Amino acid sequence: MPTVFLALGGAKLPDVNDALRKSFYFHCQRAKNEQQQPPQILTGRANMTTSTPVVSTTLDYPRRQGKVRDVYDLGDQLLIVSTDRISAFDWVLPNGIPSKGVVLTQLSRFWFNQLSVDNHMISTELPTTGEWDDAARENLAGRIMFTKKAEVIPFECVVRGYLEGSGWREYQDHGQVCGIALPGGLRQCDRLAEPIFTPATKATSGHDMNVSFEFMVNALGADVANQMRDLSLQVYNQGSLLASERGILIADTKFEWGWHDGKLILIDEVLTPDSSRFWPANDYRPGQAQPSFDKQFVREWLMQSGWDRNSPPPVLPDDVVQQTSDKYLKAFEMLTGHALTSGG
Ligand SMILES: Nc1ncnc2c1ncn2[C@@H]1O[C@H](COP(=O)(O)OP(=O)(O)OP(=O)(O)O)[C@@H](O)[C@H]1O
Ligand SMILES: [Mg+2]
Repeated sequence: MPTVFLALGGAKLPDVNDALRKSFYFHCQRAKNEQQQPPQILTGRANMTTSTPVVSTTLDYPRRQGKVRDVYDLGDQLLIVSTDRISAFDWVLPNGIPSKGVVLTQLSRFWFNQLSVDNHMISTELPTTGEWDDAARENLAGRIMFTKKAEVIPFECVVRGYLEGSGWREYQDHGQVCGIALPGGLRQCDRLAEPIFTPATKATSGHDMNVSFEFMVNALGADVANQMRDLSLQVYNQGSLLASERGILIADTKFEWGWHDGKLILIDEVLTPDSSRFWPANDYRPGQAQPSFDKQFVREWLMQSGWDRNSPPPVLPDDVVQQTSDKYLKAFEMLTGHALTSGG
C-alpha cells in the first residue's frame, strides 16, 4: 500500500502532562486510495488534505492496534486515536474512509456527554500548551480521546431492538436469539417488543462468539453480569430514544465495559456506525433488509465483488469509499444536529 510518512522530533515521556510540555515523535501514515502510486515523502502541510484518510499513527508510547483504533498507553491514561481504517468480515480493508475516525471519536464524545452512565472519557482535546507540531495537530485533530485506563471485561454487550444480522439468522433457524425465545412469525428487521441483551465473548483473535446470558453469569458472577445487562439496556434505551427523535433507528449495538477504581464504566466507542446498525427511520420497511448509515454498504459491495473472505480483501472503488464517508458524516449530522468539524 502506498504510504506517506511524516516524522517530527521528540522524546519518550512518562505522562501526558510531561509529554505536552516537551516534543515527541509523531509519525503518521496516510494511505492513498489509489494502490498503484509509489510511496511519497511529505515535506510540509501543503499535501495534508482532510480528504486523505489517516490509516495509521505512531506516537512514541506503547501502542496496541485494534482493527480501527490505535491505543497508546500513557501510564495512568490511554490515548485512543480513531483512524480511518474500516473493517468488514474481520478483515481490515486496504482503503481508509476519509473522516471516519473523526466521526467515531466525535460521535462517542456526543453520546458520553448525553448518556447518564459512568464512562471512560477524559478529554478529546489536544492541550493547547506543549509542542505538538502543527502537522501532528492537523492529523490527530478530532480523532483522539484521552480516557481512563480500564480493566476490560471480555464480553461484547450486544443489545438488539430489531431483528437483523446474526440474530435474524438464528431466529430463522431456532426461533430464538442467544437463548432468548421470541414469538413466532417475526419478519426480518421487525421491531422487538422489548430490546434484548445478547452478549458475545470478546475474542482476542477471530470472531466474537454469541453466548447465552447464563454463560456470562457463570464467567462473571450474577451480580456483575446483571449490572452489565441492565446498564447496557439502559444506555440503549436512552440512546435509541434520542436517535429516533432525530430520524435514526438504532437497530442494534454493542457496548464494552471495564473496571476503573472499583467501578463499572462504559469504555471504547459508543453508539457509532461501527458499533451499531443505524437505519433511516423514514425508510423503515420491515420484512426486508434496510438501507443503512453504517458499513453495511461496504459489506454488500464486498459480497458482490467475488471476494472469498479468506484472502486479503479487494480495494474499494473510489465511489464506494466516498459514499461510505458520506454515510458516516450524515449519521453524525442527523444525530448531533450539526455538521462535523475536526473539533466535533
Ligand atoms: N478505557 C479503556 N481501557 C482499556 N481498554 C480500552 C478502553 N477503551 C477501549 N479499549 C480497548 O481498545 C481497543 C480499541 O480498538 P479497536 O476498537 O480498534 O479494537 P477491535 O479490533 O474492535 O478489538 P480488539 O482489538 O479488542 O479485538 C479495544 O480492544 C477495546 O477493548
Ligand atoms: Mg472495537
